[in-house]
Amino acid sequence: MPLVTTKRMFEKAFDGQYAIGAFNIGNQEIIQGVAIAASETRSSVIMEVSKSALKYTGPKTLKAMVDAVIDEYGIEVALHLDHGPDFETAKLCMETGFTSVMFDGSHYDFNENIQKTKEVVDYAHERGVVVEAELGKLAGVEDEVNVKAENATYTDPDQAIEFVSKTGVDSLAIAIGTSHGAYKFKGDAKLDFDRLQTITKKLEEAGFAKYPIVLHGASSVDPTSVELCNRYGGQIKGAKGVPNDMLRKAAGLAVCKINMDTDLRLAMTAGIREFFGTKPDQFDYRGYLGLGREYVAKLVEAKIRDILGSVNSAKP
Ligand code: G3H
Ligand code: 13P
Ligand code: ZN
Repeated sequence: MPLVTTKRMFEKAFDGQYAIGAFNIGNQEIIQGVAIAASETRSSVIMEVSKSALKYTGPKTLKAMVDAVIDEYGIEVALHLDHGPDFETAKLCMETGFTSVMFDGSHYDFNENIQKTKEVVDYAHERGVVVEAELGKLAGVEDEVNVKAENATYTDPDQAIEFVSKTGVDSLAIAIGTSHGAYKFKGDAKLDFDRLQTITKKLEEAGFAKYPIVLHGASSVDPTSVELCNRYGGQIKGAKGVPNDMLRKAAGLAVCKINMDTDLRLAMTAGIREFFGTKPDQFDYRGYLGLGREYVAKLVEAKIRDILGSVNSAKP
């Protein structure tokens, strides 16, 4: 099966009131972990690649590994650029064969974000590639993106309509209280669901019915992985993610794509730490990377079954 775009995935997800998981990938074991879970659940998945993952592994290597697991496991996958910083990176990914790209112009002012996003959309649509953009600013830290909490801003519903109309972008990432990384909330977790519903309603009124919304920064910071990491020497203190019931609620609304990276990193690290902690005499990389891969697969399968609700979505 060749790579697919997210278009049909999102149409089905919107109607079926579930969401497709977008899992950040960067090496063989993470890719296989996601592939195993997708195959076990017969779920469509999005494998997404940040700019730093592109640099770490190389676009061609990533594409070849993703093609290989599609064949090996018979799964339905869209390959997506996550937080593309500029036109050139988006173009490189399209040339490599990615089926979806994100252009993240959320740090530009509104009109500049529109203009730069539209440039990517026009180029992508001529090539059958779909585009995600972002409006509003999420707090949090990634390698390439660092937004302080006080600079985070929620997405303005009226701007969202104007943005979608003027750019023709296929899906929109919005800021409603999530953030990147393992430390998402200081007090109680809170997401602005009213804002999400206002955006959806206004989009519908403007002629964009069933428009797919994307939720970034949606790791739940899995307590089992954190506990295992800490038990075997880790020091991950005070980490807090998005509660599962909030993610389920978002998946039942217009959110069709839910992005997770931190949880996969934690699961991989938990497996490796546990292996080193319990088998200090061993040094076969297939042992520790293998346990990391097993924990990633388990985690992704649980996300698909218990949160996203996308089981069987890969069926025609
Ligand atoms: O939001 C995106 C990812 O968490 C990217 O992280 O730049 O460290 O690969 P990274
Ligand atoms: P997390 O840090 O919550 O996993 O978010 C990942 C993400 O949004 C990737 O784009
Ligand atoms: Zn993100």
